[in-house]
Amino acid sequence: MKNVTPLIELKAVGKSFRTADGTDRAVLEGVDFALREGEIVALLGKSGSGKSTLLRILAGLIAADHGQVHYRGQPLYGPARGIAMVFQSFALFPWLTVQQNVELGLEAQGVARAERNLRAAAVIDLIGLAGFEGALPRELSGGMRQRVGIARALVMNPDVMLMDEAFSALDVLTGETLRNDMLELWDSGKTPIKGLLVVSHNIEEAVLMADRILIFSSDPGRVRVEIPVHLPRPRNVDSMEVRGLIDEVYAQMTLSPADIAALTAGEVVPVHLGYRLPDAEVSQMEGLLEMLAAAPFSGHADLPQLAEESELSDEELLPVYEALRLLELVHIAQGDITLTALGQHYSHADQALRRDIFGQQLLQHVPLAAEIRHSLEQEADGELGEEPFLRRLEEFMKEEEAERVLKVAIEWGRYGEVFEYDFHTGMLKLPEDAAEQPKAVN
Ligand SMILES: Nc1ncnc2c1ncn2[C@@H]1O[C@H](COP(=O)(O)OP(=O)(O)OP(=O)(O)O)[C@@H](O)[C@H]1O
Ligand SMILES: [Mg+2]
Repeated sequence: MKNVTPLIELKAVGKSFRTADGTDRAVLEGVDFALREGEIVALLGKSGSGKSTLLRILAGLIAADHGQVHYRGQPLYGPARGIAMVFQSFALFPWLTVQQNVELGLEAQGVARAERNLRAAAVIDLIGLAGFEGALPRELSGGMRQRVGIARALVMNPDVMLMDEAFSALDVLTGETLRNDMLELWDSGKTPIKGLLVVSHNIEEAVLMADRILIFSSDPGRVRVEIPVHLPRPRNVDSMEVRGLIDEVYAQMTLSPADIAALTAGEVVPVHLGYRLPDAEVSQMEGLLEMLAAAPFSGHADLPQLAEESELSDEELLPVYEALRLLELVHIAQGDITLTALGQHYSHADQALRRDIFGQQLLQHVPLAAEIRHSLEQEADGELGEEPFLRRLEEFMKEEEAERVLKVAIEWGRYGEVFEYDFHTGMLKLPEDAAEQPKAVN
C-alpha cells in the first residue's frame, strides 16, 4: 500500500517578481501541484511560463509569496535533504575532479571522508562514470558532464529528484541515451528516488517518460491541463498509443489564447505591448510556411508529422507556430496546422510582396511593432534610440527577456520594412521610402 501523503504538495502557490519600474508581476498564480510516490511527472510550458521558478520553490531554494508548500506533509521552509535538483547547465566546478564534484554536497553536510568516498564511488559507478573519477569537467563530453550532474544529485540519497531541462543541452542521441539510463535506474530500484519531476521542452520526451504530463499556462503560470499516461515503460515511440498521446500534447500546447480562454471560461486577453513575442526567426517562419504549402502537405498538416519532416525540435518549432498564428498566416486547431487564405497568398508571393504582407500583419497584430513605428513617425528625423522601448517592456518582464523580445520585434520589423535598425548605434528609424509610401497604421 502506497503512502497517500504526496511527496511534495503545493496549494494555491503564487510568486511575483518586481519589475524594473517597481511594480510586481505575477509569475505564478494559484498553482496546485502534487508529486506522489512512485510517479514521474513531466512539466511542459512555454519559455518564461515559470517552470524553473516552480522548481526552485519545490526545492526550497526560494519561498512562495503565498499558498502552501509541503514536503512529506510538513511545510517546507528551505532546502530539504531529500530533494535534489539537476540543471540544464550542469553547473560543475571546473577545477574539481568528477569525484570531488560529486562529493561536494556530502562535504557540506559534514559527512566523513571515508563515507564520502564510498558513496561517491557507488553513484559514479551506477551512472556509468567508472574510470573517470579523476577527470576534470573540461575533459568530458556534454553527456558525461551531465552524468556528473546526475551523480551529484544521486549521492545525496534524495527521494525526490527535480530535473530542469536536464537533457536539452545535449545532442539528440546523447540526450536520449541519458534519458533511457535514467529511466532504467528509476525502474531498477537501485536509487532511493521515489518521485521524479522533469521539466522539458520536448513533447516526445514527456510522453516517453511520464506517468502524468502537466501543461503550464503563461502570464501567470499555472497548471492548465493534466494528461495521464497509462502505458508501461519502456515505451515504443512508434506505437499507436504513444503517437496518439504526442498528438494530444501537441494539440494542447498549440491552443490559441482564444481556445484557452474558452476552455477555462476566462477572458481572452488580447496581445498587448508586453506580449512575449515568440523566439522565431523570419527564415524559420518562411521555411515552415514553404514546407507546409508544398507536397505532401499542400497547406494542411498534422503537427507531429510536420515536426518530423522539418527535423526541428519542439523548442524551436512551437515559437514558430505561435509567430505564424499571431500574424494570421496559419490556423492551428486540434493538433493540425492549416495555411490561412493570406498564408496561401504569402507562400506563392515574390519577396517584395512577402515583405509587404509581413509588414502589414506586423502593424496589425504586434502592438510593439506598431508602437515603435508610431513613435518614429512622431519624430522630426524619424529616429529614436531603442532604450525607451526597452524601458517600456521592462514594465512587463525581466531585463534579459525585454532585450530578447525587442530583438525579435526588430528582426521582424526590419524584414517587413516597418522600421530600420542600426546595430552599431542602437538607433531605430523609419525606412528610407516611408515618406513617399506611408503604410497603413491602425
Ligand atoms: N529573480 C527574478 N527576478 C525577476 N524576474 C524573474 C526572476 N526569476 C524569474 N523571473 C521571471 O519569471 C518568469 C518565469 O521565469 P522561469 O525561469 O521560471 O521560466 P521558465 O518557464 O523556466 O522558462 P524557460 O522555459 O525559458 O526555462 C520570466 O518572465 C522571468 O523573467
Ligand atoms: Mg526554465
